[in-house]
Amino acid sequence: MRHYKLTGKESPRLMRDTFEATPPGAGQIAIDIKAASLNYRDLIIAKRFGDIVPMSDGAGVVTAIGEGVKGFAIGDRVVIGFMPGWVEGAFSPAKKATSLGGPGMDGVLTERLVVAATGAVPIPDAMSFNEAATLPCAGVTAWSALFERRPVQPGETVLLLGTGGVSIFALQLAKMAGARVIMISSSTAKSERARALGADEVINYRTCESWEKEVLRLTGGIGVDLAVDVVGPATLSRTLEATRFDGRISLMGVISGFDGPVNTGAILEKRITLQGIYVGPVAMLRSLVATGIKPQVDQVFGFEDAEAAYEALQGAGHFGKLVIEVAD
Ligand SMILES: NC(=O)c1ccc[n+]([C@@H]2O[C@H](COP(=O)([O-])OP(=O)(O)OC[C@H]3O[C@@H](n4cnc5c(N)ncnc54)[C@H](OP(=O)(O)O)[C@@H]3O)[C@@H](O)[C@H]2O)c1
Repeated sequence: MRHYKLTGKESPRLMRDTFEATPPGAGQIAIDIKAASLNYRDLIIAKRFGDIVPMSDGAGVVTAIGEGVKGFAIGDRVVIGFMPGWVEGAFSPAKKATSLGGPGMDGVLTERLVVAATGAVPIPDAMSFNEAATLPCAGVTAWSALFERRPVQPGETVLLLGTGGVSIFALQLAKMAGARVIMISSSTAKSERARALGADEVINYRTCESWEKEVLRLTGGIGVDLAVDVVGPATLSRTLEATRFDGRISLMGVISGFDGPVNTGAILEKRITLQGIYVGPVAMLRSLVATGIKPQVDQVFGFEDAEAAYEALQGAGHFGKLVIEVAD
C-alpha cells in the first residue's frame, strides 16, 4: 500500500513510499482512507518534524476489525478523531500525545490506518468522504471555540478572523446557533463568499487598519460577546479591544507565532474569559457530525498531487478547506 512520509530533519519533504499493511490489534480497526484534509498545523509539522506519515484529518471505510471491537462492521464509513485517544472527559498529556500526524504519531496521508475503534465515528450516507475528512481538526476546534464552557447564545455577536478552515466552520455553527457574525478577511472575493454563507458583516483588514474600532462601531461601542482568534500574538490585543466587558475569547491560533506581547490589563479590566483551545474529544466530533453540517470544500487534489495541496495551503488562497482524495 502507499503512503507519504515527511523525510529529513531540517526541512522535511513529502516522499511517497510503500508499506506492508498490518492487521488491527485488540480494540482496533483498520480504515482504508478515502480522503484527507489539510490544516494550517500541517505546515507547522512539515517545517519541524520528519519521519512520520503527515496529516491528522481523514475519513474512509472500515476494512478489518480487531478482537473485542463492538459497534463496527466491515464496510462502515467513518471519520477519525484528531486525537483518537481523547474520546471524552478531561484533557491530559497522554490524550494529546495521540494527535495524528504529529511528533511520534503517524497520520492519515496513507491508504490504510489502524486506530483504536473508540477514536472513529460513523458518518451518514449523505456526507461524502471529502466532506467528512474536514471535520476532525478545524470543525471540532470551531465547535470547542463556540460551545465549550460558556456556549454562544441566540442573538449574541461573534467575531471571527479570516476565512480559513476553523473560521468558516465557526461561521456555519454560529449561524446555526442564532448568533450575529462579524468577520474580518483580506479578500473581497472571500468576503462575498462569507456573506453568502450568512456572515452579517465582513471587514477587510487590509484596507481597514483599525478593524477592532470598526467592530466596536458595529456593536454600538460595546464589543462582541465572543471572539475566536485564529491568528494569535499579532491580533490578540486587538481582539481584546473588540470584545465586550465580561465577554469571552477562544484562542487557538498560531498564524503569527507562539508568543508575543499581550495587553493583559484589558483581560482583567474587562473581566474577559480567555479560553485556550486544543481541538476537542471524539465525543465533539460525534456531535458535529450529527448537526448535518455541509463543510466548505474549496479544492480537491489527487493523492499524487499532495505537494501541490500543501503549496495551496501555504498560499492561503483557499476559503474553508483543502482536501486530498486518497482513493476513489
Ligand atoms: N489549537 C487548536 O486546537 C487549533 C486547531 C485548528 C487550528 N488551529 C490554528 O488556527 C489557525 C487557523 O487554522 P486554519 O487551519 O483554519 O488555517 P487556514 O485554513 O490556513 O486559514 C488561515 C486564514 O487566516 C486568515 N488570516 C491570516 N492572517 C490573518 C490576520 N493577520 N488577521 C486576520 N486573519 C488572518 C486568512 O484569511 P483571509 O484569507 O480571509 O484573510 C487565512 O486564509 C492556525 O494557526 C492553526 O494552527 C489551532
